[in-house]
Amino acid sequence: MAEPRTLTPDDAPLSGAAVVRAEQVGDAGTIERIVLEAFGPGRFAKTAERLREGAAVDVGFVACLDGHVVGSVRLWQIRVGGTPCLFLGPIAVQRSERSEGLGAALVQACIDHARTSGAAGILLVGDAPYFGRFGFDRVGGVRMPGPVDPARLLWLPIAVETVAGSVTIG
Ligand SMILES: CC(C)(COP(=O)(O)OP(=O)(O)OC[C@H]1O[C@@H](n2cnc3c(N)ncnc32)[C@H](O)[C@@H]1OP(=O)(O)O)[C@@H](O)C(=O)NCCC(=O)NCCS
Repeated sequence: MAEPRTLTPDDAPLSGAAVVRAEQVGDAGTIERIVLEAFGPGRFAKTAERLREGAAVDVGFVACLDGHVVGSVRLWQIRVGGTPCLFLGPIAVQRSERSEGLGAALVQACIDHARTSGAAGILLVGDAPYFGRFGFDRVGGVRMPGPVDPARLLWLPIAVETVAGSVTIG
């Protein structure tokens, strides 16, 4: 499990006492509220959510401001074509606290964790204009267990340059 990390000026221009730390059991209710506010109940119809339903959480991180959880992200254990890797999502920051660098700090915590644990890489379904800044790029030849816009299927290589094949839990 990753250690709590106080953000530094190098991470993002943050105000207040902002901290990213590993998710704890007691955070679940707040995380659910933040994700529901961000995505609405429709998220349960998404292919990414279907995949997560059967997968195990590798690690979760929360962003806290003045001790209150205001953002969250999770990494899930999956396989692509048999290669173990991580699936990122959902990531959400409370509307009132966006554009302060908390989203970037959450993504960076995931990347740091994936590097430390020697993961092959991180897969996600999301907006390339947001995730491109962290090194995520479109990946072809990866088949999700349901319909996904191919332009939103993104891969960040860590130990393995690229992956291909069916996405399964694992
Ligand atoms: C995506 C999200 C987590 C980013 O959190 P955040 O704390 O605002 O992120 P940061 O402060 O690091 O970055 C904010 C910047 O990213 C931009 N951005 C946010 N979402 C974006 C998107 N989907 N595509 C492109 N740019 C995006 C913002 O406009 C902002 O730009 P600015 O700095 O020029 O104002 C937050 O906007 C959110 O919860 N969105 C709703 C849930 C969601 O869509 N999650 C998945 C994204 S694919």
